[in-house]
Amino acid sequence: MAIQRVQSKWAKTTALLCSEQMRQYIPETSPFRRETIRAMLDQHQMVYVKPDLGTFGHGVIRVDKLQHHSWSYQFQLGKRIRRFSTFDSMYKQLAAVQSGKRYLIQKGIHLLKHQNRRFDLRVMVQHNMQGMWETTGIIGRLGHPAKIVTNYHSGGTPLSFQTLMSSHLPEFEQTNLLNRLSVLGVNTAQQLQTHYPGLKEIGIDIALGTDMHPWILEVNTLPDPFLFRKLKDRMVFKRIYRYAVGYGRFKK
Ligand SMILES: Nc1ncnc2c1ncn2[C@@H]1O[C@H](COP(=O)(O)OP(=O)(O)O)[C@@H](O)[C@H]1O
Ligand SMILES: [Mg+2]
Repeated sequence: MAIQRVQSKWAKTTALLCSEQMRQYIPETSPFRRETIRAMLDQHQMVYVKPDLGTFGHGVIRVDKLQHHSWSYQFQLGKRIRRFSTFDSMYKQLAAVQSGKRYLIQKGIHLLKHQNRRFDLRVMVQHNMQGMWETTGIIGRLGHPAKIVTNYHSGGTPLSFQTLMSSHLPEFEQTNLLNRLSVLGVNTAQQLQTHYPGLKEIGIDIALGTDMHPWILEVNTLPDPFLFRKLKDRMVFKRIYRYAVGYGRFKK
């Protein structure tokens, strides 16, 4: 049987929201609508707007409500920032850059920084040789300084969890957090599998803010295993690859 893939971010988010215990890890998310974005900006001041069927960080937009005497809103797509004095003028431009695709709005998380650049985490979870879900790798992605996404294909740099977290947490707390993220990875996979039984691997994008609460930004069902080749510890990628061959993603 082929490995199941699910493209729609909205479908995956609603599948996770069905679980009471998963809800605390999902930032408020809604389909893109004028009144919803207005209300979410009033409440959170910063939101992300992204294509339901996007990848690689393409088309992802950060919108900020400003406390400035002449500008009330700004949004950033790629490296370009645009500022607006009214909600209506901002909304008009925001709708115009979407070119008819379906978009979602998500509460913005203020990501932790390393050398003044934002980073998030990718958690790889796979069926192991026994067909049980196992978290096989956790890696950080440091965003390009001029961008609002951390994706490798948008100029992000993969770095080890330890490199990125050493200035934020003492070592024993890093270990605790890694363990919590591993468990969260397996729970996420199990919950998604109740809706999509043919899944064998997922890659979860997780944001951490200063309070260290993990927020699931999205779940990828065709995660890039080669990202983990960037880690010094070669065993991580070897295991990821071995499991992937095991469930038929790659030929032996
Ligand atoms: N709600 C959010 N808060 C903060 N950063 C976000 C948020 N959503 C997305 N991002 C940033 O944008 C990147 C791309 O968003 P993501 O939802 O993973 O879409 P894609 O499928 O394009 O990777 C994330 O890895 C993260 O760096
Ligand atoms: Mg992503």
